[in-house]
Amino acid sequence: MERKLIAAGNWKMNMDYNEGRDLAQAVASGLQPSDVLVIMGTPYVHLKNISGIIKDISNIKLAAQNCHQEENGAYTGEISAAMLKSCGVDFVILGHSERREYFGEADELIAKKIDIVLKYGMQPIYCCGEKLEVREAGKHEELVGEQVKTALYHLTKEQMQRVVIAYEPVWAIGTGKTATPQQAQDMHEYIRSLIRKKFGQEVADATTILYGGSVKPDNAQELFSQPDVDGGLVGGASLKAKDFLAIASSF
Ligand code: PGA
Repeated sequence: MERKLIAAGNWKMNMDYNEGRDLAQAVASGLQPSDVLVIMGTPYVHLKNISGIIKDISNIKLAAQNCHQEENGAYTGEISAAMLKSCGVDFVILGHSERREYFGEADELIAKKIDIVLKYGMQPIYCCGEKLEVREAGKHEELVGEQVKTALYHLTKEQMQRVVIAYEPVWAIGTGKTATPQQAQDMHEYIRSLIRKKFGQEVADATTILYGGSVKPDNAQELFSQPDVDGGLVGGASLKAKDFLAIASSF
């Protein structure tokens, strides 16, 4: 099975309705046909509208940035997997470090969210990564290993084949500091080895592992040229169509 190359944008809590529509239109009209899959991860309010904007373009897909772990019910303010699916969502970003940091999400909960996203026929983009003090203590592989095992090791092979992983060192997110291509490669190789151990060579080879953390047009090419870096999860630079399109053509 072929490993997919992906440039995914994570708009976070940015863009009002009209700004979001304009950005999605600019990305959709500027994108060249290629084998790279482009994903826009937008706030909930944009999803239905943008799914209409991109519906005839086969290499653009839509992502939500979170999802509740229960089917439905009395969870005021929350959004379910069924709702996302019905709005044309293909991917759901789960376990982003900002969800972990500000909303107390941990891998046991993220594992449940992964299950429900898969159940509704969407693909999780599972985020993992260490904070600066963990890296400085030399414990980054141990920590990321624990995250990956807790969130993903309960899946079947068939389920794992639908998961995208994003390695996002927390110290590189929104800071302008990027992991060096070698640091990214080392961690991606390690994550792939964990997938291989549990799910076998074929699944490991086919798993897309994205790098996230200050990916920009001027560093994307070097990062994406690493053998185990299959693309990026892009925050700040996904808010400008020109920059995001430049990143998407950096493979
Ligand atoms: P950044 O964010 O590109 O702004 O560093 C990446 C992310 O949080 O996904």
